Amino acid sequence: MDQLQALVDEALKAIETASTVPEIEQLRVTYLGKKSTFSELMKTLGRMDAAERPAAGARINTAREQVQQVLEERRQHLEAWAREQRLVAERLDVTLPGRHEASGTRHPVSRVLDRLSHFFTSAGFQVVDGPEVEDDFHNFEALNIPAHHPARAMHDTFYFNAHTLLRTHTSPVQIRTMETGQPPFRVICPGRVYRCDSDMTHSPMFHQVEGLLVDEGVSFADLKGMMAELLRAFFEMDVAVRFRPSYFPFTEPSAEIDVQCVHCQGQGCRVCKQTGWLEIGGCGMVHPRVLNNCGVDAERYTGFAFGMGVERLAMLRYGVQDLRLFFENDVRFLRQFA
Ligand code: FA5
Ligand code: MG
Repeated sequence: MDQLQALVDEALKAIETASTVPEIEQLRVTYLGKKSTFSELMKTLGRMDAAERPAAGARINTAREQVQQVLEERRQHLEAWAREQRLVAERLDVTLPGRHEASGTRHPVSRVLDRLSHFFTSAGFQVVDGPEVEDDFHNFEALNIPAHHPARAMHDTFYFNAHTLLRTHTSPVQIRTMETGQPPFRVICPGRVYRCDSDMTHSPMFHQVEGLLVDEGVSFADLKGMMAELLRAFFEMDVAVRFRPSYFPFTEPSAEIDVQCVHCQGQGCRVCKQTGWLEIGGCGMVHPRVLNNCGVDAERYTGFAFGMGVERLAMLRYGVQDLRLFFENDVRFLRQFA
């Protein structure tokens, strides 16, 4: 019994210096477990006088409870501290911005193509397709541009060989449509075309929308009315438009359509090469020889055709100064069309 206080002091000191939960557990086994010093002391009670036994037992129990209580407090303290440490280590700042997916936007060229398709399908036109790798016959010959015709020089053509090329315009689709079907025709053909060309208003690959309307009694007035209506619907305002007499071997008469330059309001600038106008397309009445080439009776049918530059329309509609921007895929540029 003399050792009791010394034992308590020793236990409390050990508990005080324990710094982890496992250490505390170890001390519990040492001081309070079945084979612990307190248990040994309890066993000595049997050898005592019956008179002393209750008081001694009570003293051992009190001491034991004291150690137990301090140990439990220490354990709780260390557990709380360990939890605290874990929370600090695993800390998440839920206020940080998330990693979001950047959403894309429709390309301005696609948007213009959609608008044109919508306009023409509403007017009863069908959308048709043709090959980008074309043959000389459809790209030139059938369009009344025979070999050595000077009009070939206007198209800086990418050739694969003497007969195969990248189409320089969408007009070969006129031929393919008339070859395979019966009039009346009312089609548009949107698609890529290629020319060896590059400056602010020209790129080696660009888009055209071809249009062809062949029926009985079609006149140049119908063509002009349709183009005027298209441009009003496309620009959603009255833009200055002019039909400039021009020449294409596959139309007669022919015109080119110019829209007033939106960058200088027609005053003349770098974009319009000081002319005040930007050419958006060519058009005309389908040449009787082209109709006959395709097996369409030119005595009975007349028609008009046009070919519009899609990027030029996009430049004018969105106020873009350099057509090549459409193909650089700089997201800072493209994002502006969201
Ligand atoms: C033609 O291509 C004719 N096939 C158009 C046509 C169709 C006339 C049907 C009559 C009947 P042109 O070469 O002018 O014509 O080109 C048409 C339009 O394409 C031009 O007005 C211009 O807006 C656009 N364009 C021409 N070259 C380029 C280029 N390198 N980059 C961007 N747009 C171009
Ligand atoms: Mg032209």
